[in-house]
Order: sequence, then structure tokens, then C-alpha cells
Amino acid sequence: MRNPKILVFSGSIRSGSFNGKLAALAAKRLAILDADVTHVSLKDYPLPIYDGDLESASGAPENAKKLKRLFEAQDGIFIACPEYNAGITPLLKNTLDWISRVKEPGEALKNKVFALGAASPGKFGGMRGLIGTRTILEVGIGALVLPQMVSVSAAASAFDDKGGLTDERTAGQLDKLVDALLRATRLEMSH
Ligand SMILES: Cc1cc2nc3c(=O)[nH]c(=O)nc-3n(C[C@H](O)[C@H](O)[C@H](O)COP(=O)(O)O)c2cc1C
Repeated sequence: MRNPKILVFSGSIRSGSFNGKLAALAAKRLAILDADVTHVSLKDYPLPIYDGDLESASGAPENAKKLKRLFEAQDGIFIACPEYNAGITPLLKNTLDWISRVKEPGEALKNKVFALGAASPGKFGGMRGLIGTRTILEVGIGALVLPQMVSVSAAASAFDDKGGLTDERTAGQLDKLVDALLRATRLEMSH
């Protein structure tokens, strides 16, 4: 069987983003376990805020189509999700909304295994935002989201110089999540 194809990205495009760091670390851990990893930044796929008039006039933007094709080629997707006001970031929601509106045939979201993580400078580690993101993916899109998640609190001091997690328990959570993602994608691929 071929190695699982896993897409990794962050819901933040801020330079120095903690979720960017978490995504980079997840990509590294997945690659060590022989996943075929594609790590992208949403900065390379700018999209206007979803507007039904824009969609009626010219359809989904080219970057939404590119992302749909990219998502479609994956077995699993790891998203590092920042928490804004206890919810999903507009960037991540807008990206998922546009992808869900691309009319080209093919399934970009529904038949993927998602793994979610979050990093926040606060003490809740972005956990409240993860719950909202899970609801969107599971209920709105009908995707499979792993029950395991990783939550990095006090993110400003959570990463060392090499991009690793300083707290052993959190590092263990990430390893378990990455492991679960590979097991679940391999299981899906075998069907
Ligand atoms: C509009 C806004 C709302 C925020 N709300 C929350 C919040 O509810 N919980 C939280 O832990 N952090 C919150 N934050 C702080 C973010 O966690 C912090 O800016 C973090 O660095 C964003 O992720 P990034 O480092 O990946 O860009 C908020 C930040 C912004 C800009």
C-alpha cells in the first residue's frame, strides 16, 4: 500500500504564527512516520470574503479551485486552528466555505480524515475554537474528525529553538494525534 497523503496547514498566515509552528511540527512528525506530506500556507491562496453575488457573477475564485484540487488529492488533513473569540478564524472558515462551493466534480472535504490542533498564548490552548471547527467539519461538511486533538497553551513559550514542544505531555499529545491520523487514513485507504 502507498503511504498516506497528508495535507498540513495553519488557519493563521501571521508571520511568527504559533499555529504555523504547530503545523510545521506536525508536518515534520508525519514525514518521520513516512507520510507523503504537503505543507502549505493559506497565504499562497488568497481568497476574497465569500459573497454570493461574486459567486453568481464569476463562480468560485481560481485559488478556491486550486485548493479543492489539492484537498482532493489527500487522504488526511491536519489543521492547526487558531482561536478567535472562542471560535474559528475567518480565514479558515472562509477557505472551507469557498472550497465547499467549487462546482467541479470530486470530493475535497467529505471523504478525508481530519486531525485538529491549536496553539494559543492563553491558558485554554485554543480548545474552544477546536470545538467550533469540529462542528463545522463534522456537521456542516460531513467529514470524519479524529476524537484526539492537540492543544498548545502558553504558546509564546511552548516551542524551543528547533520548533519542538517544550512540554512533554503536549509533545506526547501531538505524537498520539499524528499516529492516529496515519492509522485512520491507512484504514480508510484499505477499504
Ligand atoms: C480577533 C482575535 C480574537 C482572539 N480571541 C482569542 C480567544 O478567544 N482565545 C484565545 O486563546 N486567544 C484568542 N486570541 C489570541 C490568539 O490566540 C493569538 O493572537 C494567537 O497568536 C493567534 O494564533 P497565531 O499565533 O497562529 O496567529 C484572539 C486574537 C484575535 C486577533
